[in-house]
Amino acid sequence: MAQEKEDSKLKDIVSLCKRRGFVFPGSEIYGGLSNSFDYGPYGVEILNNLKKLWWEYFVHRREDVIGLDSSILLHPGVWEASGHISNFSDPLFDCKSCKVRFRVDHFLEEKKGEGFTIGKSLEELQEVLRSEDYSCPKCGTKGSFTEARNFNLMFKTQQGANEGGSVDIYLRPETAQGIFINFKNVYSTCRRKPPFGIAQIGKSFRNEIMARQFVFRTREFEQMEMEFFCEQGTQKDWFEHWVNYCIEFLEVTLEIKKESIRIREHEKAELSFYSDKTSDIEFKFPFGWGELWGIASRTDYDLNQHEKFSKQDLKYNDQVNNKKYIPYVVEPALGLNRLFLAVISDAYEEEKLPDGETRVVLHLSSKIAPIKIGIFPLMKKDGLDSKAKEIQNLLRNHWYCEYDDSGAIGKRYRRQDELGTPFCITIDYDTLKDESVTVRERDSMKQERISINNLKTYFIDKI
Ligand code: GAP
Repeated sequence: MAQEKEDSKLKDIVSLCKRRGFVFPGSEIYGGLSNSFDYGPYGVEILNNLKKLWWEYFVHRREDVIGLDSSILLHPGVWEASGHISNFSDPLFDCKSCKVRFRVDHFLEEKKGEGFTIGKSLEELQEVLRSEDYSCPKCGTKGSFTEARNFNLMFKTQQGANEGGSVDIYLRPETAQGIFINFKNVYSTCRRKPPFGIAQIGKSFRNEIMARQFVFRTREFEQMEMEFFCEQGTQKDWFEHWVNYCIEFLEVTLEIKKESIRIREHEKAELSFYSDKTSDIEFKFPFGWGELWGIASRTDYDLNQHEKFSKQDLKYNDQVNNKKYIPYVVEPALGLNRLFLAVISDAYEEEKLPDGETRVVLHLSSKIAPIKIGIFPLMKKDGLDSKAKEIQNLLRNHWYCEYDDSGAIGKRYRRQDELGTPFCITIDYDTLKDESVTVRERDSMKQERISINNLKTYFIDKI
């Protein structure tokens, strides 16, 4: 029953996203491309607001972090060094009957419980799959599965037009490696010394087999990552610092509810071989708890590997203390599209009103809301519309406003509630006499009369 309620909440959110121009199914007029999404006019505003807030919080507010924008296409050697060519894979098997492909770990965790697959090898998982008489979740056929195999998740393409002369390259599966390979460029040109971080926002690509749950897991997505370089021995303290810093960003800056977030520390058996500590910040998505933000202490693994494979000296030369060393790294890695889904789910409410009606409302922080102020003339005539335009011109240099003069005022309010607009202004016949307007607040739905002269100060205070 609880599961049904959760599934239906996700359906409601997907439907709102389409109806109100947040997210559209990708390539829709061609019948769609599975698991691809396009962000509409209001969705892109939210994405841009989230990126801006993250950048301000992780770069501008810090003395010790600077930015970077590296390429999506990198030298293939990068992925050999990082281990992505040999290790970046999912264990999969197929149903021989309906040919649908499944992830072994997801499949067995559903059957045996969360955490069952942690630390188990592919062979061990295969043994469990073989010994149990499971039926296919799609077509119901019993015990008709292929052997489980590892599938690499990187998208491969070719660079160069010459037949036979082209090189196999990959779309990056994470933005992090672009930061590692620029470590020396950044510290030497920008005169930085550890501890310091390099932050980057950009697209990543993974050929996920079980891409699902709306924008939670997609093949093309955007990451906001920061690699923080510090001396060996200090990484534990920095790790704690960054976990707390990320939580503060979610709770204070984005105003996500405390009870929607939890920290899950990885067990030893679950840690990547190069990590000495990893924690996920999980969010309570409509379909259950899921990873939102991964914070990993990655030791000196990546820079060591790039030094070995590129044959370049990547050590930091500490002239004050007369020592050269490869720094340790703490990495908070966040997915922008998962953050989008988290803020929308957290803000979504079907609110029962005193008059018995229900309104759908997004209680978004005004920092995230796509539109800050809705502007409505009561009528499209008698000078109310031109007065409303005048007010829009007064405010639009400061806040993104939307002018709407169609339909009943109640309907216009409901539309803006669904978009998460924190304030709406109505221009009525009294406005023409007393130069004041009605301002309505989204969450309380309270209305107050404000003089046009005071509108700017009013909103500076509120938004
Ligand atoms: N550099 C480390 C790294 O990429 P990750 O845990 O694989 O770590 C970091 O990814 C974050 O990127 C995740 O916590 C998640 O928010 C997001 N992410 C990963 N795969 C994703 C996918 N297929 N679709 C959407 N977001 C994804």
